[in-house]
Amino acid sequence: MIQIRSSCPVLLLVLVMTLFSHSLPPATARDTVTPTQPLLDNQTLISSGGRFALGFFSPAAGSASRYVGIWYNNMSARRVVWVANRARPVPGPTGLLSVTANGTMVITDAESNSTVWSMAGRTTAPAVAQLLDNGNFVIRGSAAAEGNYAWQSFEHPTDTMLAGMQLGLNWTTGLSLNLTSWRNADDPAVGSTTCPWTPTPSYTCPLRRPARSGAAGRRTGAASEAPASTTTTWTTAERRP
Ligand SMILES: *[C@@H]1O[C@H](CO)[C@@H](O)[C@H](O)[C@H]1NC(C)=O
Ligand SMILES: *[C@@H]1O[C@H](CO)[C@@H](O)[C@H](O)[C@H]1NC(C)=O
Ligand SMILES: *[C@@H]1O[C@H](CO)[C@@H](O)[C@H](O)[C@H]1NC(C)=O
Ligand SMILES: *[C@@H]1O[C@H](CO)[C@@H](O)[C@H](O)[C@H]1NC(C)=O
Ligand SMILES: *[C@@H]1O[C@H](CO)[C@@H](O)[C@H](O)[C@H]1NC(C)=O
Ligand SMILES: *[C@@H]1O[C@H](CO)[C@@H](O)[C@H](O)[C@H]1NC(C)=O
Repeated sequence: MIQIRSSCPVLLLVLVMTLFSHSLPPATARDTVTPTQPLLDNQTLISSGGRFALGFFSPAAGSASRYVGIWYNNMSARRVVWVANRARPVPGPTGLLSVTANGTMVITDAESNSTVWSMAGRTTAPAVAQLLDNGNFVIRGSAAAEGNYAWQSFEHPTDTMLAGMQLGLNWTTGLSLNLTSWRNADDPAVGSTTCPWTPTPSYTCPLRRPARSGAAGRRTGAASEAPASTTTTWTTAERRP
């Protein structure tokens, strides 16, 4: 009787610990790329709140072509919202996404030792590239203030508008940000459908349309962070896996 009573709490504790350990995020989850810690083809960044993931992917089934993209982390059908190396995939699982100390981000192919994609962010060392929970991939100095980014994917959109992203002309940089569709569902290269911003007060893009609810998109609910932008996910892609 005494034995049973004393062993029960131990069993319960073991059970609780087992259940709890399964609900913990994997210890490997990280949201940054640093000069000392690049991202390999078989690794993924997960944003702090778990909403977005960034990594290498192949859009076409059975294809060896690898692209670096951002997708919703919690959807079983991958819904890619941003692609880095749209025009030039890595030909195999040998890609490496890295950031130099001064903020230059590159995708290299370790097999051929060639640079597939790069962009100069330029920041004060040491630089860090971080996937934020709103889906923005940013480069900043590791001590930089919030919002002080050397480069951000939100200023280089692909075909999807996320809450916090601003299309149209940035009067500071003079850059006009447009959405451009994928060439087709298997190829994220710039397709024929572009959606340039035009300087009219009531800008509407004739080609954009709300994404399908469910699998393809939804209100992203970050309106408080982005008062001046839409909170609906838009896409110009006609079809996505
Ligand atoms: C990931 O890829 C690297 C380089 O190709 C390899 O050394 C490592 O073992 C791989 N890790 C896993 C978990 O597959
Ligand atoms: C995915 O995450 C979003 C944002 O956190 C949430 O609104 C949505 O319900 C989630 N979807 C699934 C299938 O869990
Ligand atoms: C940044 O670092 C890379 C590699 O270390 C170097 O090639 C490049 O010139 C540097 N750029 C600047 C602006 O310092
Ligand atoms: C890759 O290229 C760099 C710069 O061109 C060179 O320093 C390095 O030795 C090369 N590595 C291999 C494995 O070819
Ligand atoms: C315009 O670009 C600058 C520099 O990248 C950025 O700080 C600012 O937030 C942008 N403005 C808008 C309205 O997006
Ligand atoms: C956006 O579209 C306009 C009009 O087609 C074009 O002039 C501009 O260069 C585009 N912006 C970018 C960043 O591609």
